Amino acid sequence: MTDLSHPTLPGALPDKRQVAASFSRAAASYDSVAALQRAVGVALLDQIEHADAPARWLDLGSGTGYFSRLLGERFAGAEGVAVDIAEGMLRHARQAGGARHHVAGDAERLPLRDGCVDLLFSSLAVQWCERFASVLSEARRVLRPGGVMAFSSLCVGTLGELRASWQAVDGLVHVNRFRRFEEYQRLCAGSGLEVVDLERRPHVLHYPDVRSLTRELKALGAHNLNPGRPSGLTGRARLQQLLQAYEQFRQPQGLPATYQVVYGVLRKPMSEGR
Ligand SMILES: C[S@@+](CC[C@H](N)C(=O)[O-])C[C@H]1O[C@@H](n2cnc3c(N)ncnc32)[C@H](O)[C@@H]1O
Repeated sequence: MTDLSHPTLPGALPDKRQVAASFSRAAASYDSVAALQRAVGVALLDQIEHADAPARWLDLGSGTGYFSRLLGERFAGAEGVAVDIAEGMLRHARQAGGARHHVAGDAERLPLRDGCVDLLFSSLAVQWCERFASVLSEARRVLRPGGVMAFSSLCVGTLGELRASWQAVDGLVHVNRFRRFEEYQRLCAGSGLEVVDLERRPHVLHYPDVRSLTRELKALGAHNLNPGRPSGLTGRARLQQLLQAYEQFRQPQGLPATYQVVYGVLRKPMSEGR
């Protein structure tokens, strides 16, 4: 994930092949630990409650296909397309149904023709894309005039407790980087799509201990993939320091992990025949 507040960080972005491999490996474990992803995707679906029924919808970064299934139920009769960069996720999603087509592809270069999508839904996927501007430009290209894009993503502040705890231990990059919310605002405003709604809402999860959190991130395929991340095993002493540092955040419910979630609804202007 990319914190574009440092746009010139060379080589500081996760490699797409690594992202795809990590999510493919996580396909079997993902659904059992995806509570936040479920809550966010459902909240995003609520935001398009009153959207016109699409003839064709796209679930971009569809993962195991949980939301493809919900979209398929909500828009019975419409043609659903699921796109993901991870073949392992697509294999999993294909078995579960929901979308009619399952296509391997990159959100920054969609393997779809111009103007063929009425509704583009994308939950918690585009934070993995280096160039969000390209994602928006591709969305604008594949949407038909009047078509809607609803996306959720993560921004700076996400996993801030874990980042700060590691910072206290060794100052290294142990947590994925995220774009600033202001960057989402700027890029959406300049996308040529009409911004219907763009907001940031925190979701806080609680864990009994740090290991439960890091185990979950790994099972999701969302553990730290940044180049420059510390390699190898974490020594016992450093781990102990991390656990101690994280304790300062403890609340009665447990150790908090904050996710700063961006929700956006954009529409392609009717006047655009592209
Ligand atoms: C956290 S999962 C979310 C899955 C699903 N949308 C959900 O909410 O359950 C992120 C998904 O985005 C996919 N992804 C990451 N980068 C992508 C890209 N550039 N293009 C398409 N999919 C991508 C990953 O392979 C993974 O399946």
